[in-house]
Amino acid sequence: MPIAVKTDQEHFKYDQVSSYIMQLIDKGNLKPGERAPSLRKLSSTLKVSISTINQAYLSLEDKGVLTARPQSGFYINAELNQAIETPKPIITACCQPRKVRFGQLFEEIFTISNNPRVAPFAAARPSMDLMPDKALIRETRGILSRQPAACMDYCFPPGHQKLRAQIALRYANMGLSISADEIIITNGATEAMTLALQTVAKRGDIIAVESPTYFSVLRLIEKLGMLALEIDSHPKTGVDIESLEYALDTMDIKAMLLVPNFNNPNGSLMPEKNKDQLVELLNSQEIPLIEDDVYGDLYFGSERPGIAKYYDTEDRVLSCASFSKTLAPGYRMGWITGGRYHEKLLEWKQATSSASASIQQLAVAEFLRSGQYDRHLSRLRKAFREQVEKARFMISRLFPEGTRISDPQGGFVLWVELPRNINCYDVYTDALEHNIGITPGMLFSATRKFKNYIRINCGFPWTDETEKALEQLATLINELNK
Ligand SMILES: Cc1ncc(COP(=O)(O)O)c(C=O)c1O
Repeated sequence: MPIAVKTDQEHFKYDQVSSYIMQLIDKGNLKPGERAPSLRKLSSTLKVSISTINQAYLSLEDKGVLTARPQSGFYINAELNQAIETPKPIITACCQPRKVRFGQLFEEIFTISNNPRVAPFAAARPSMDLMPDKALIRETRGILSRQPAACMDYCFPPGHQKLRAQIALRYANMGLSISADEIIITNGATEAMTLALQTVAKRGDIIAVESPTYFSVLRLIEKLGMLALEIDSHPKTGVDIESLEYALDTMDIKAMLLVPNFNNPNGSLMPEKNKDQLVELLNSQEIPLIEDDVYGDLYFGSERPGIAKYYDTEDRVLSCASFSKTLAPGYRMGWITGGRYHEKLLEWKQATSSASASIQQLAVAEFLRSGQYDRHLSRLRKAFREQVEKARFMISRLFPEGTRISDPQGGFVLWVELPRNINCYDVYTDALEHNIGITPGMLFSATRKFKNYIRINCGFPWTDETEKALEQLATLINELNK
């Protein structure tokens, strides 16, 4: 939508042209690497002389927003978002196992995320606008009318064969030979991780996790009476193998739990060689690794990252995942493949929840079998990538100087390091007063570090309302920075 350009003051017109281009970039209508409107076209759209447009473009070039290409025109700088600084690694050198104590903040995050009036930057959830609801409803109705008894009856663990066979096929496409019999269907990845922890550890045991780590994992460790040992992690490459080696030498660690692909909150992605080294190291000390791969299918690049289980020569990796971030969180469809722990996992599943919902298992199996899931995933990855890029760009322009933003290569959350004087809890409470949800950084550690960090969910398509909410959030943070 063209904005009006006043014709009486030259400098005013020129500023308006610049802000018009910036608005197009902010709204994602012009993306890094794309050609900016030609001087002639913009001159006729905005009713401003070509020389004014040219001047405005040259000033945007000076600011690094545009680059001029001979005989071709102006382009949005392809490295625009790459110049944004990413969070600094935090090296603590010495770590101690901790009891996790969260209090009510944890519950509050879930409560505000259920409130549709609160801007959706808090929970890491995909927008239902991006989900293939009609197609999934069609499959669900179809299965219910074709196989009513199977839909309504129990299907005891390990769960429906059809779904397990589809999941096994996905593993085969990743080069893993895992049969349907080695997979157990669970109520989301959360149940998969609960079963895994119950299987490999007991009250009082030390569980190594990366830092920062997804707060529900810390909560789970708290509720199971275990202790969390936070291992230093790099914002881009994930857990630091040397720090882990040191911890293994000095402490009696019972298991490790981490998200190697697109960690929540910082989006770190472990390089394949690190996954290999990690599994070898843990295997050498007979320590099980619980990996959570809920974001693995949401890569922005051309190839899906591998999973740690691929490198496991001793069957000691318990790999958990779900369709919550990619298809239907409310269906609660997750799974675990636990290698040598399979039988014990089955016992825990039978003892604690008997079975998972049958209709959803059969509907998701059909959705996968028909090829609809993979087609949906390729659209979803593109949408998340654009949403995340746009949020990065807006935050980099609106938040105070010194803000650093993660650069995830998959998933849909951003980890934002604010200037040190800003407390994330103040940001959280001020934002909530304006009906804006965010997750304060301190929830991602049992030691309450990350006090000047926040996590922003970008799992929804941008609208005028959410853009305004992000602008309002920036205003509040800028006020706290004074
Ligand atoms: C890393 C991670 N694991 C697991 C979950 C929860 O998965 P599910 O809904 O399948 O239980 C989340 C949700 O935020 C997550 O970020």
